[in-house]
Amino acid sequence: MTGLMEGKKGVILGVANKRSIAWGITQVVCQAGARVALTYQGERFEESVRSLAAELDNPLVLPCDVSDDGQIDELFRTLEKEFGRLDFLVHSIAFAPKEALEGEFVNTAREAYRIAQDVSVYSLVALARGARPLMQGGGSIVAMTYYGAEKAVPNYNVMGVAKSALESAVRYLASDLGPEGIRVNAISAGPINTVAARGVSGFTGMLKLHAERAPLRRNVTQEEVGKAALFLLSDLASGVTGEVLHVDAGYHAVGM
Ligand SMILES: NC(=O)c1ccc[n+]([C@@H]2O[C@H](COP(=O)([O-])OP(=O)(O)OC[C@H]3O[C@@H](n4cnc5c(N)ncnc54)[C@H](O)[C@@H]3O)[C@@H](O)[C@H]2O)c1
Repeated sequence: MTGLMEGKKGVILGVANKRSIAWGITQVVCQAGARVALTYQGERFEESVRSLAAELDNPLVLPCDVSDDGQIDELFRTLEKEFGRLDFLVHSIAFAPKEALEGEFVNTAREAYRIAQDVSVYSLVALARGARPLMQGGGSIVAMTYYGAEKAVPNYNVMGVAKSALESAVRYLASDLGPEGIRVNAISAGPINTVAARGVSGFTGMLKLHAERAPLRRNVTQEEVGKAALFLLSDLASGVTGEVLHVDAGYHAVGM
């Protein structure tokens, strides 16, 4: 895989710490030769993202809270200045208030619903729009989703509805941007122990059940998601867009 991303530049949003799926993707695409910009959500995450970025060759580290249009605009202004163009963008961001990730979905409050859609879904639309002028001649965008978009998974609740919207947004964006050679896909990852995942009530039980029932009889790793992202971000997937690729040890394929 060495060299697959040689000469390519991209931005990866969603690294919080070394367990983040975005960090797994970063490591794999950088090993394949890419140069990346990592973003952090506010000062709380800056130090941890900077110390991870120190392991990379010539990275950029930039702030971007995706709930703030001004920060998104500033991100792309800086990327244009520093990189000139973008070959890829990774969206590995989701958030919903904790109280909306337990109990009954029917009790979801309006504000929790709004926040989940804004941070986890609208952000992909805004980021794709920002990346578009920098992807002249083509590019690849990848977002992260989960099986709770397709089936009702206990406690995943408002995030499941947000992931359904995200998968739909991937298809609409693929349709809009395809004529310009910009591909938009999602990876539906199996459960992985991260900060965001631990926000879902009963997450440890999900991990155990998944490992017992998935055809491969185990959970997946950040590196496995990273390798699938490398495929979608590279020219290997030049004919693939509007797709949701499951990297879940086969869990989605079985009924019981
Ligand atoms: N871990 C899993 O089991 C799993 C499975 C499938 C999909 N996913 C998805 O993978 C993606 C990454 O999550 P993760 O599991 O690596 O957890 P994580 O906590 O490491 O990453 C979530 C990231 O979202 C960022 N974020 C939240 N609100 C933001 C905002 N307003 N602006 C900018 N960034 C913001 C956080 O800073 C963090 O970096 C999410 O979309 C998540 O839903 C996770």
